[in-house]
Amino acid sequence: MKIMPVHLLAIESSCDETSAAIICDGKVVSNIISTQPQHAKYGGVIPEMASRAHQQNIVHTVNAAIVKARISMKDLNAIAFTQGPGLIGSLMVGCSFAKSIALALNIPLIAVNHMHAHVLAHFIDDPKPQFPFLCLTVSVGHTQIVLAKSFNDIQIVGQTTDDAAGEAYDKSAKLLGFEYPGGPLIDKYSASGNANRFYFPEPKVDGLNFSFSGLKTAVMNFIAEGKMQNENFVTENLNDICASLQWRINSYLINKLSEAAQKFSIQHIALAGGVAANSGLRKLLELSGAIKGWQVFIPSFEYCTDNAAMIALTAWHKYLTNDFAATNIAADARLRF
Ligand code: KG4
Ligand code: ZN
Repeated sequence: MKIMPVHLLAIESSCDETSAAIICDGKVVSNIISTQPQHAKYGGVIPEMASRAHQQNIVHTVNAAIVKARISMKDLNAIAFTQGPGLIGSLMVGCSFAKSIALALNIPLIAVNHMHAHVLAHFIDDPKPQFPFLCLTVSVGHTQIVLAKSFNDIQIVGQTTDDAAGEAYDKSAKLLGFEYPGGPLIDKYSASGNANRFYFPEPKVDGLNFSFSGLKTAVMNFIAEGKMQNENFVTENLNDICASLQWRINSYLINKLSEAAQKFSIQHIALAGGVAANSGLRKLLELSGAIKGWQVFIPSFEYCTDNAAMIALTAWHKYLTNDFAATNIAADARLRF
C-alpha cells in the first residue's frame, strides 16, 4: 500500500508580514511572504492598516504557497496558524482564515506560538542545533533568551523589561534622522565607523533580563550635547556614532547570552529574529563562540524574520503528537509559552 505524504499548510500574520508555507513530511516545500511597505512612511507598523492588508493579501499568499508546493487544497492534512503573541487584529485574520479552511476541508487545526516558532526555525535547514540549546530571539517586538530542551519544551530564561532590541535600533536610528526601519542603516553606516569613539552606558538589569528604554534617552541626550558644540555633529560623525551604538547594543546582548550559557552549561547557541541580520551581531556571536567553544547557529535571513515556514515546522512537531486546537480557539495578543 502506498503511504501518502502528510502536508500541512501554515499561516503567519502576527505583525506586518502575511506568510503561508507548506511542509511535506517535515520538510518545508514552500514559504511565501507578502510584506507591507506602506508602514514605512509612518515610522512604524500601524496595527489597523496591518489587519486590513492581511485581509487583502491572505488569499493570494496561501494560493501561491499551494501552487509552489505543487499540491492542491484537498492534499492538506492539517492547517496551522500563529495564535500569538502579536497584533490582535492581524492575528485574528490568520486565525479566522485557518479555521474556515479547517472547517471546509474537515481537517485538524494547529495553534502555534510565534516565539516558539522563531526558536524552531533552526530546524528548517541544516546545520541544526542539538537539545538543550539557548536561543536569543531579537526582533522589533521581542528580545528573549530561551532554553530549548526539546521541540515542545522551551523555557524563557531572560527577556526585555521594556523595549525590544529591534526597537532600540529603530528608535536610535530615528533620532539620527533615518527612516523606519533604521536598524539596517545603523548597520550600514557602522561598517566604516570607529566603535570605540563614543561611549554609551550598558543598561543595568539584574539576571538575564534586558532593558533598552534608557538607551534611547542616552542617545537623545548625546545628540543634544553634541549639537550644542556643533550643529553638524551628527552628520559629521555619523559612522562613528552608529558603530559605537551598534557595539553597545550587540555587546549587551552577547554579554547576557554568555551569562546564560555559563549558567546552564550550554554550548549550542542560536540566534533568531530580524535583528539577527545585523552584521556586527553575527560577527560578535561568532567571535564569542570561537573564544568560548560554542557552536553557533544563525538561520538564513528568510527564516530569521517573520515567516510561515517556522510556523509550519513547529506545527509539524505538534501534528506528530496529535496536539490539535479546538475550533473555538481565539487569537491571543499576549500568548506566552
Ligand atoms: O522584528 P523582525 O523580525 O520583523 C519582521 O520580520 O518584520 O525584523 C525587523 C527588525 C527591525 O527592528 C529592523 O530594524 C531590525 O529587525 N533589523 C536590523 C537589521 N536588519 C533588520 N537591525 C539592525 N541591523 C540590521 N542589519
Ligand atoms: Zn517575529
